[in-house]
Amino acid sequence: MLELRGATYRYAGYARPAIHDVDLALADGEIVGIVGANEAGKSTICLVASGLAPASIGGGLTGTLTIDGEPMAGRPVHDLAARVAIGFQDPATQRSGITGTVFEEVALGPMNLGLPATETIARARAALELLRIGDLAGRDPARLSGGQAQLVAIASLLAMRPRHVVLDEPTAQLDPEGTRLVADALRALASAGTVLLVAEQKTDLLDTLCARVVVVADGRLVADGPTGEVLGDERLEGWGVEPPSRVRLARALAARGLDPSVVEGAT
Ligand SMILES: Nc1ncnc2c1ncn2[C@@H]1O[C@H](COP(=O)(O)OP(=O)(O)OP(=O)(O)O)[C@@H](O)[C@H]1O
Ligand SMILES: [Mg+2]
Repeated sequence: MLELRGATYRYAGYARPAIHDVDLALADGEIVGIVGANEAGKSTICLVASGLAPASIGGGLTGTLTIDGEPMAGRPVHDLAARVAIGFQDPATQRSGITGTVFEEVALGPMNLGLPATETIARARAALELLRIGDLAGRDPARLSGGQAQLVAIASLLAMRPRHVVLDEPTAQLDPEGTRLVADALRALASAGTVLLVAEQKTDLLDTLCARVVVVADGRLVADGPTGEVLGDERLEGWGVEPPSRVRLARALAARGLDPSVVEGAT
């Protein structure tokens, strides 16, 4: 369980809050998508939901972050990191910079949790397999394509088997196949009870991944509800978000006087 209540956050040195009065509660096993235009506040919500803002990057938070019923205010970064894993928009920012191979990079998280070597190795292997990147194990993590780096960054998170995961545009650099692999891995994680908060521009992905989507506009949550309703909302484009292809197709058919129900449920 992860809950933001009345969260208003200012970056250090800024008077104007980047997000205002955000209320967002995620139950165990729930995948919630965040959509919104550029600069709307998606990444900021991710930082606050993971506790990194303010614990690691400073700034000012009013309101509360509660994880599994415990308030997170004043907790040290290592305590937060043990509860919530965060994946950043740019996978390069996530790379440790201290490992020579992808395998070591993915094993680093479980190793830092103090797990025995056999368990660490098993988890790293399983995470690489889940994302079908076992063949990258011996590669230098600094010399990968953008898509490969993104999959490695996600594998590194999954290897820690966190109970709460916040992902900021996890598939930004991935092709459809990579995006599908990530979606499958996230579904598997959620079905094991993990809480997932996923900021994503790809509404087609959220359409198939989440039961619930929230929209952020100008730092405020302006919609929160079942995926079909939110992504089918007439106001979505006005909030700077492209509707999923299913919705666009149904509208195009309706505009030509054709029956849009033929695309119901199609993705
Ligand atoms: N490190 C920072 N310091 C100061 N202001 C920031 C910082 N990061 C983001 N902001 C500001 O906070 C607001 C929300 O930005 P945020 O990065 O959360 O948006 P976003 O929805 O993730 O956008 P994008 O789609 O471009 O990733 C913007 O006005 C932005 O300029
Ligand atoms: Mg962002």
